[in-house]
Amino acid sequence: MSYHVVVPDSLHRLGIELLEAAGLRVTAGSLSREEALAAAADADGLIVRSATQVDAAFLDAAPRLKAIARAGAGVDNIDLAAAAARGIPVMNTPGGNTIAAAEHTFALMLGLARHVPEGHQSLVEGRWDRKKFMGTELYGKTLGIIGLGRIGKAVARRAQAFEMTTIAYDPKLATGEAVEGCEAVTLDDLYARSDYIALHAPANDDTRDMINAETIAQMKDGVRILNTARGALIDAVALADAIKSGKVAGAAVDVYDQEPPESGYPLLKLPGIIHTPHLGASTSEAQITVAVMAAEQVRDGLLRGDYRNVVNQSLLPAAAPGD
Ligand code: MLT
Repeated sequence: MSYHVVVPDSLHRLGIELLEAAGLRVTAGSLSREEALAAAADADGLIVRSATQVDAAFLDAAPRLKAIARAGAGVDNIDLAAAAARGIPVMNTPGGNTIAAAEHTFALMLGLARHVPEGHQSLVEGRWDRKKFMGTELYGKTLGIIGLGRIGKAVARRAQAFEMTTIAYDPKLATGEAVEGCEAVTLDDLYARSDYIALHAPANDDTRDMINAETIAQMKDGVRILNTARGALIDAVALADAIKSGKVAGAAVDVYDQEPPESGYPLLKLPGIIHTPHLGASTSEAQITVAVMAAEQVRDGLLRGDYRNVVNQSLLPAAAPGD
């Protein structure tokens, strides 16, 4: 019997080819919700990026599903509990886009420090504004990293190469612990000491709106904030107010609560903010790695019952695949 794998988000062709070479039937493309639901009716495997919402309704439309892979790290577009309730393991591809995300954070940090987007815009508009765009150095500044997982650590190593002091908050770390050249601190301490704050935490009930009016008030005047993690971590109205008042000197935003953001999104047109359209993982290297990892994991799950990087393991019934 040939298994059917549906890939409703754009995935590097090497991932698709790997599935086909294993004898799996693949339906792939940037599918609309309706197209994805129709294709999922007889799907055994599903590979998504961040666009497709794999909610309970989607899962109801895919009664044969036995494996879901997220080509990337964040799984907030997948209802892990609903998948587990149906006995379906959900896998992600940890590490596949770590370098891409860390380098993008750094591109944004340097862009903020040296006003790269504003300088570019001013020149192409015909001006030669050398004095207007006085920058600051990263050297000697303190970077506070929230979430010291793979990406947070990769950002820390790059910051240390720039001779920044790196401190980190992660609920898994004990205060005072030294990890990857970072001193583990409390969130209060991180807010009070950081010149730059980089968010590398998942979106969940503990992190939603963690950057808000109250926490911004605890930060240094002139702090710069970088979010390449998830839009839900920032209260956009509070950050917009803090940018307007000058409390926050700049912000870089790659991720949005709603993607693409609506035209009235409070941070969209503010000066002092660099926006990118969720490009953290968008390198050709990372897209090949996550596509191949996700395809291998779905292939091995369906053909051999070998499920790796299962993120809803604790929710699955004891006898479900993935154990
Ligand atoms: C991730 O969670 O892996 C990144 O946000 C990139 C992506 O969504 O593809």
